[in-house]
Amino acid sequence: MNKIRIAPSILAADFARLGDQIRDAEAAGSDLIHVDVMDGRFVPNITMGPVVIEAARRSTSLPLDVHLMIVEPEHHLEAIAKAGATRIDVHWEVSPNLHRTLQTIRDLGCEVGVAVNPHTPANFLSDVIHMLDAILVMTVNPGFGGQAFLPETLPKIRQLRTMIDESGRAIDLGVDGGIQNDTAKMAVTAGANVLIAGSVIFTDKHSVDAGVKRLREQVAK
Ligand code: DX5
Ligand code: ZN
Repeated sequence: MNKIRIAPSILAADFARLGDQIRDAEAAGSDLIHVDVMDGRFVPNITMGPVVIEAARRSTSLPLDVHLMIVEPEHHLEAIAKAGATRIDVHWEVSPNLHRTLQTIRDLGCEVGVAVNPHTPANFLSDVIHMLDAILVMTVNPGFGGQAFLPETLPKIRQLRTMIDESGRAIDLGVDGGIQNDTAKMAVTAGANVLIAGSVIFTDKHSVDAGVKRLREQVAK
């Protein structure tokens, strides 16, 4: 089993002190920082773009995993890469020329990821898996933090783990949405190795350090 990687999602952070929150996440032993870009079209919500990615880039040396929940992502790849993204995840559902989009991400020097909504089947990735560094399984319908994990995504996580192992490539299998201490364990058991988590880490109930460490302890058991 791969080492489990923790990716705090800054969507749940306090944006009035974003730099400090990211530094706290890094000091707590996080592996990646997850940045949710939303356009109010692919998903109902509008969040952040290159300006915030650039600020995040200056706040940490961790890789920035930029999750694009936007239509026509191909128009924004260059700006996102220039802002400092390490990895760019585009959604399968809004990428009609997926090979070209993935090749563009690669040519920009970024790691290549594809995200799939809860209803998108695993085998829709079979023709592009050889191009990927990351697969991101949405375990909620994208758009907002703090939603409940959809357990019907677990068979897909298992299926993708098999596909990744058969590909022989070192592809990260991330889960995004509703990751709490209990659902994290379910996702890891199904084969995920990257836990993207917002509200369980950035909360006023405990420190960022406690949130990251508790999540890691849960999946180490
Ligand atoms: C949801 C975003 C997630 C979100 C997860 O559309 O892609 O990254 O921040 O938030 P939680 O962990 O609160 O479900
Ligand atoms: Zn996300």
